[in-house]
Amino acid sequence: MKIAITGKGGVGKTTICALLARELAGQGKRVLAIDADPNGNLAGAIGYDEDASGRIKPLIEEKDLVEERTGAKPGSMGGYFVLNPKVDDLVERFSVEIKGLRLMVTGELKEALGGCYCPENALLRSFLRHLMVDRDEWVILDMEAGFEHLTRGTAESVGMLLVVVEPGLRAMKTAEKIASLARQLHIRKVGYIVNKVHSEGQEKRVVEKLGRDAIWATIPFDFQALEADLSGSSPYDECQEMRKTSRDLVKRLMCEC
Ligand SMILES: Nc1ncnc2c1ncn2[C@@H]1O[C@H](COP(=O)(O)OP(=O)(O)OP(=O)(O)O)[C@@H](O)[C@H]1O
Ligand SMILES: [Mg+2]
Repeated sequence: MKIAITGKGGVGKTTICALLARELAGQGKRVLAIDADPNGNLAGAIGYDEDASGRIKPLIEEKDLVEERTGAKPGSMGGYFVLNPKVDDLVERFSVEIKGLRLMVTGELKEALGGCYCPENALLRSFLRHLMVDRDEWVILDMEAGFEHLTRGTAESVGMLLVVVEPGLRAMKTAEKIASLARQLHIRKVGYIVNKVHSEGQEKRVVEKLGRDAIWATIPFDFQALEADLSGSSPYDECQEMRKTSRDLVKRLMCEC
């Protein structure tokens, strides 16, 4: 199953991606988590200690690899380079094992998918396609907001799109826009995850706006999540309630599969 997680900035995409990846791995599934956000730190949210184990270099920064696979130096524009470079060995070479799952940091996919033609973007585009089309495991993709950058071919291979939304008109409007775009791109399943809910009243208003059936999970506001972020630890390890929520979310995803 291929799952992409998106939503407005700061709504909790990385947190939810990490919870989901940890829960699935805990249930014995083969999981590959992809951090496609240059400022993301999905690794930390999963439980990777960067101070102790070092920074994970994004794929896009592997300059020798970019040149080896595309035949051109990173950053070169306008020259000739391979548009569909070989990428099927990259997960094995560049992923990091964390807490029973594998993680890869790609660097920003947005420009790559938006049609910016340079060798490193050709490599990333090709890699994303490989992830979505060829791999037989749970691939969970933490994206920046802005799903419109997915190309039609790649989007069709996304099995599920989770749109994270917090109670607030702007976040809900963004979420609705993303969901509508996803349908145009023929993504089969689109579900909202309502995060940081403070009260039943808030939840009710979100349900009125987005519709109960479209909401796959509701996650309460949890101070322990903030604490985990502050101390650089994983919300999955620190927040009992969030762990329970992620079990429920996985159950829901299994029903949707
Ligand atoms: N349910 C929650 N309750 C309280 N705080 C939360 C909750 N979910 C996430 N947060 C906090 O909100 C902040 C933003 O979360 P996160 O980084 O996961 O969002 P994001 O959507 O990935 O952000 P960005 O758009 O910057 O990538 C973090 O401090 C995180 O700990
Ligand atoms: Mg994030």
